[in-house]
Amino acid sequence: MLIKWSEKFSTGNELIDVQHKALIGIVNNFSIAITDEKGIEALEKVLNDMSSYAWLHFRTEEDLMAKYSFEYQEDHKQRHDQFKKQLLQFIKDFNQSKDLKLVERLHHYLYRWLIDHIQKEDMKYKYLLK
Ligand SMILES: [Fe+2]
Repeated sequence: MLIKWSEKFSTGNELIDVQHKALIGIVNNFSIAITDEKGIEALEKVLNDMSSYAWLHFRTEEDLMAKYSFEYQEDHKQRHDQFKKQLLQFIKDFNQSKDLKLVERLHHYLYRWLIDHIQKEDMKYKYLLK
């Protein structure tokens, strides 16, 4: 199941939207790597892309939230930190076990998290960026 970008994901900020599209692209690549059985190396590449890009993106969002004194920035940052912790733990477990069931669980987590986070949490700062 691939995520299709639509206006319901738009924050109205071009940079954030471009970054969200890139994250969606990575989650979609992850899905393709699983369903097409592209192998461990492809999965490792996707996980690497995900962690480096998520870090960059969270930094961008957190800088913007600070710049605009967003009232929920602490709560929002905690959600990012929780995600980073979870992702790193998954990557660590996967590197040790190479267990493909873990990969499917991680994909499900990323898929749900990204859609929920953009639609529920990121939309809370939308009004600031207009
Ligand atoms: Fe966010």
